[in-house]
Amino acid sequence: MLGRVPNRHIRMSGTTAPVIQMRRQSQRADDENAMTCTLTLTRPDDWHLHLRDGGMLDVVAPETAAHFGRALIMPNLVPPVVKGADAADYRDRILAAIPPGHDFTPLMTLYLTETTDAADLLAAAQSGLVTAVKLYPAGATTNSASGVRDIDRVVPVLEAMSEAGLPLCVHGEVTDPQVDIFDREAVFIERVLDPLRRRIPALRVVMEHVTTADGIAYVRDGGDNIAATLTTHHLFINRNHILAGGIRPHYYCLPVAKRESHRLALLEAAISGVSNVFLGTDSAPHLDSLKLAECGCAGIYTAPNTLACLAQIFEEQGALDRLDGFVARHGAVFYGVPVNSGTVTLEKCDAPQPVPSPRATPDGMLTVFDPGVPIYWRVADA
Ligand code: DOR
Ligand code: ZN
Repeated sequence: MLGRVPNRHIRMSGTTAPVIQMRRQSQRADDENAMTCTLTLTRPDDWHLHLRDGGMLDVVAPETAAHFGRALIMPNLVPPVVKGADAADYRDRILAAIPPGHDFTPLMTLYLTETTDAADLLAAAQSGLVTAVKLYPAGATTNSASGVRDIDRVVPVLEAMSEAGLPLCVHGEVTDPQVDIFDREAVFIERVLDPLRRRIPALRVVMEHVTTADGIAYVRDGGDNIAATLTTHHLFINRNHILAGGIRPHYYCLPVAKRESHRLALLEAAISGVSNVFLGTDSAPHLDSLKLAECGCAGIYTAPNTLACLAQIFEEQGALDRLDGFVARHGAVFYGVPVNSGTVTLEKCDAPQPVPSPRATPDGMLTVFDPGVPIYWRVADA
């Protein structure tokens, strides 16, 4: 609890920037409840984000740009972002949706298909336009129909990426209908990812939105060329939240949340300070009308309250001093970019903060993630 957090100014070894400043401001030094606690983090990065396009892009891009310095933008538009020219056009549309005054850089990805042109992809990477390439197994998730059916068919492109040092971001689930949906991540590691990494050991891989203890163990034991991103929502929900006591479509995403023991393994990894585990929110906005449907879309919109939720859960774990690494440092180091120079400040309030209200888009309402527990933190106004 706040009462046990001393005044402090913590520096992380090997860094010069102040990582976290805990400040108490009180009119009455004897009254702990009257104190305000602020937490200043290095301006963070989101290493896995869906911004969509059109009216939805205009609503959600400013919300990420308000808190984050950079985000790795997922390419699963319809049609997908496959060529360098597609990425350049999409980046322009994203930048046009960011209000003036925000210091935000979208980092672009290309969507890997079985007919990807390796020369185009490498040129886009070498020009600095593209930061990573995304592997969707065909049919694994939203707008993945153009993804990869046979991994052997993309090995030449992956070998070229390996030589160029271009990371592969992986949606790590098999699509075999014989495999239970709760096992698809673990089976992907065994059948696809591990054989691929043995074949191309120098390929840099990010196993995105890891949801299992198996995934975390694989990444932790995997050496320098592999990292994992964790989402905010998978640190808060397990599969009971989706299914027990009524079905909750706003908690449905892919990979689907697993049992509680897996959530605890993810949380332990997030707060551990391990350098190849970092935030990728997978904030994935869908209209309420498409989520609350007979066949509802996968995806949870977490961008507006991700930092508040993470401050809450890291504080509860006694790990606030590791939050900066998780949200702002580990990912930058893995991707080989400088840590952001700005900061973002959160403040701890006396009362739980309301879940952000649904957002109005031109096509309908968009619900924001409800972590289901009281959140006392909020991002302070700049
Ligand atoms: O829940 C998800 N939503 N998982 C994904 O992999 C894709 C995303 C989306 O694009 O909606
Ligand atoms: Zn995603």
